[in-house]
Amino acid sequence: MSRLRDKVAVVFGGARGIGLATVKEFVAEGATVFAADIREPAERLDGAEQSLVDATAEKQVGEFVAAVLAKTGRIDVLFNNVGIHLAKPLADTTLEEFDNIFALNVRAAFLGTRAVLPHMIERKSGSIITTSSNGGVMGRPGDPVYNATKHALVGMMKSIAVAHAHQGIRANTVNPGAIDTDMLRGTLSTPDEFEAKQHQLVASTPAARVGEAWEVAKAVLFLASDESRFVNGVVLPIDGAKAAGAMPGGRYSLDFELGVR
Ligand SMILES: NC(=O)c1ccc[n+]([C@@H]2O[C@H](COP(=O)([O-])OP(=O)(O)OC[C@H]3O[C@@H](n4cnc5c(N)ncnc54)[C@H](O)[C@@H]3O)[C@@H](O)[C@H]2O)c1
Repeated sequence: MSRLRDKVAVVFGGARGIGLATVKEFVAEGATVFAADIREPAERLDGAEQSLVDATAEKQVGEFVAAVLAKTGRIDVLFNNVGIHLAKPLADTTLEEFDNIFALNVRAAFLGTRAVLPHMIERKSGSIITTSSNGGVMGRPGDPVYNATKHALVGMMKSIAVAHAHQGIRANTVNPGAIDTDMLRGTLSTPDEFEAKQHQLVASTPAARVGEAWEVAKAVLFLASDESRFVNGVVLPIDGAKAAGAMPGGRYSLDFELGVR
């Protein structure tokens, strides 16, 4: 109940899905949480201050972080979780779509990290966690530009870890596989498509199921807490072994008998 006691955490992209589940875990473990998102939260939580902030807007991010510091004097944990998906072959992707997804997925993590880093360096303490993806560690055929943004985040976090570890700062990524959230469902637009695609996602996951948001949140909690104080620069898959390797071919078939849940 107190793995984050006395800690102040900032969560970008905390209004629903993995972000909201993490805000809940952080609050339950005693943190004071400031969650920022471009949309109203799906749920209002006691113990968390939930604000409307565009994580891609430099001024808004700067003012939000400054307001947290003015109120609490510290930020111990930063969770960069903002992201959008783009399921399109590279040849069909417009320049506008390319710029848009990089400006969101990579810029938001850059701005959030840049805003808290000087403070963390001064205090010689801080844990930064960024949500990458399976697509940040392995090539996937259906979403090449999303893949590229998620690899970029891994690079950014590793570099921060190497550069600032001696100053007490940790920077890690969580790399979810298919997690049942609005993003996953929204990407697969019609209910029929969702059923068909979910079957495919399940069949291509060694654990033979999709994950839940709280399962990612538990990993973020570990990286946020002092339990992981010598864990730095890592890429942590939460994906039912999807990134661990290829399965026997038959497992990828839509005829594969599912059932493990
Ligand atoms: N669901 C999955 O299968 C899956 C798999 C791998 C990685 N991820 C990553 O996990 C993260 C969370 O995804 P999710 O599945 O919970 O999706 P989600 O859409 O429920 O959550 C993303 C959150 O980011 C917020 N957001 C979007 N643009 C923003 C902006 N400009 N400023 C502030 N907030 C903004 C959204 O409003 C939303 O609350 C994303 O980075 C996503 O890429 C998800």
